[in-house]
Amino acid sequence: MQKIIILDFGSQTTQLIGRRVRELDTFCEILPYNKMPLDDPDVIGVILSGSPYSVYDPEAFKLDLSAIRGRYPILGICYGAQFMSHTLGGRVEPAPSREYGRQHLTTIDTANPLFEGFSQNSQVWMSHGDTITALPDGFRCIASTETVKYAAYQSEGEKLWGVQFHPEVFHSTQGSLLLRNFVVGVCGSRQDWSAANFVDSTVAELKQQLGNDRVILGLSGGVDSSVAAVLLNRAIGDRLTCIFVDHGLLRKNEYDDVMRDYRGLGLNVIGVDASEKFFADLNGVVEPEHKRKIIGRDFVEVFDSEARKIKDARWLAQGTIYPDCIESLNITGKTIKSHHNVGGLPEEMHLKLCEPLKWLFKDEVRRVGRQLGMPEHLITRHPFPGPGLAVRIIEPITRELVDILQQADDIFIRALRDYKTPMKLSEARRILAAGVSKEYAQLNDDDTIDVSLYDQTWQAGVILLPVKSVGVMGDERTFERAVALRAVTSTDAMTADWAHLPYDFLARVSNDIINHVKGVNRVCFDISSKPPATIEWC
Ligand code: XMP
Repeated sequence: MQKIIILDFGSQTTQLIGRRVRELDTFCEILPYNKMPLDDPDVIGVILSGSPYSVYDPEAFKLDLSAIRGRYPILGICYGAQFMSHTLGGRVEPAPSREYGRQHLTTIDTANPLFEGFSQNSQVWMSHGDTITALPDGFRCIASTETVKYAAYQSEGEKLWGVQFHPEVFHSTQGSLLLRNFVVGVCGSRQDWSAANFVDSTVAELKQQLGNDRVILGLSGGVDSSVAAVLLNRAIGDRLTCIFVDHGLLRKNEYDDVMRDYRGLGLNVIGVDASEKFFADLNGVVEPEHKRKIIGRDFVEVFDSEARKIKDARWLAQGTIYPDCIESLNITGKTIKSHHNVGGLPEEMHLKLCEPLKWLFKDEVRRVGRQLGMPEHLITRHPFPGPGLAVRIIEPITRELVDILQQADDIFIRALRDYKTPMKLSEARRILAAGVSKEYAQLNDDDTIDVSLYDQTWQAGVILLPVKSVGVMGDERTFERAVALRAVTSTDAMTADWAHLPYDFLARVSNDIINHVKGVNRVCFDISSKPPATIEWC
């Protein structure tokens, strides 16, 4: 299959470049800057990403351009553009002030294949400290802004371009068009990477790979493992056994609801209530990382003891998706939170790993789920952390506290689902993280649909605070807990903004929680973005 290679020089937006290329129905791989697969015959073009480094930093990442130049069309973005210019004889210098934020292309060569269809004055997003001050011989400037003379260039007579702005980010309003011009126009993508193709080819490959073997898969209730299960079920039917572990830290009624959904999908699923073990082991533990480690360890133990009952299992399947696999260049090397997924089964079980979604981004997983005919409420489910409500209780976990949190959370999530606002279909397609349902396929872009606040947010939940405060109910003084509502918009959970929920909605949720959840007399709304905050509180 044709593919674009994105060489990662450590920019925060490298994954976004990948997603934009996939949106053009073109397969791509993100690889470290020094791992160019020179013997892969399917490569049709190369994109060099941005980087936190300056080309002058001693530790800056460098690539041997001669290995790819002339072999593939190349597009350098930000550092990628500066690196090529610098290496090939141009000049890069510190900009008088950091060039950051929205700018407009005041001159554009719209006859250049990269800018075909661009409007004059097109808005672009800049983010760099250095700037190109002279181009190498034989290079031509093809776009400028008021302050950035060489906003874009091409090496004449060669399929090599550089842009100092970021076409992959939302604020570059014609950025997707630029990438289309490169990927489709220049590299000649056939645009045949689609959910339907993926399902057909993956089911065929799984049949071949797994033969008559038996496979075990850990279900979490989330989109990724559910889609992986349905895909595998289509390939090998009942030879797939799914295990769903209830650690007692799920949302209210979630275990029963999800089991019903899975059985409705025809999956062969075993549910295990292991909550007693988890509560016992978490007893008295406060430190968030410690809680995560215990939950991760217990999870493997419970899963393992169930998996051993399936005698002739040869494979362990997982809903790992592409962002989990990308060997991205974490420049700082620091762990903020250790996320837990199934894994680490004892080696003596000799299970081979099967990860059918490992090439997909989250939005593609959802498209595949829709293609497989899965119900919308499973496809549009918010992400939910593996350790569940444990990361939303900032003190030792008890059943009583989990119960209080489940009730408050249930009120909030239901209300988000019930509150709908009208939106143009084109806008819904643009902003909804989970995409839009197939039921709207017949409508026009200008038609209006009602979209719930749940679908308008990436993720939402309630945090139980370790704080009691005084209130008054009826004539009684109360001294009870506070909860915080958390709702964010995001496209990938790497950055997130707090969701600007309507006041009348917040007022109603606050009333409902205080009136119905015994033990809570105060409701706050978390208005922190990520960074500097994170989505979960611990
Ligand atoms: P943070 O809190 O780091 O979360 O902004 C980013 C995303 O990851 C989810 N999350 C987890 N998921 N195991 C998981 O499977 C975990 O331990 C974990 N911690 C956070 C979080 O809900 C958000 O979607």
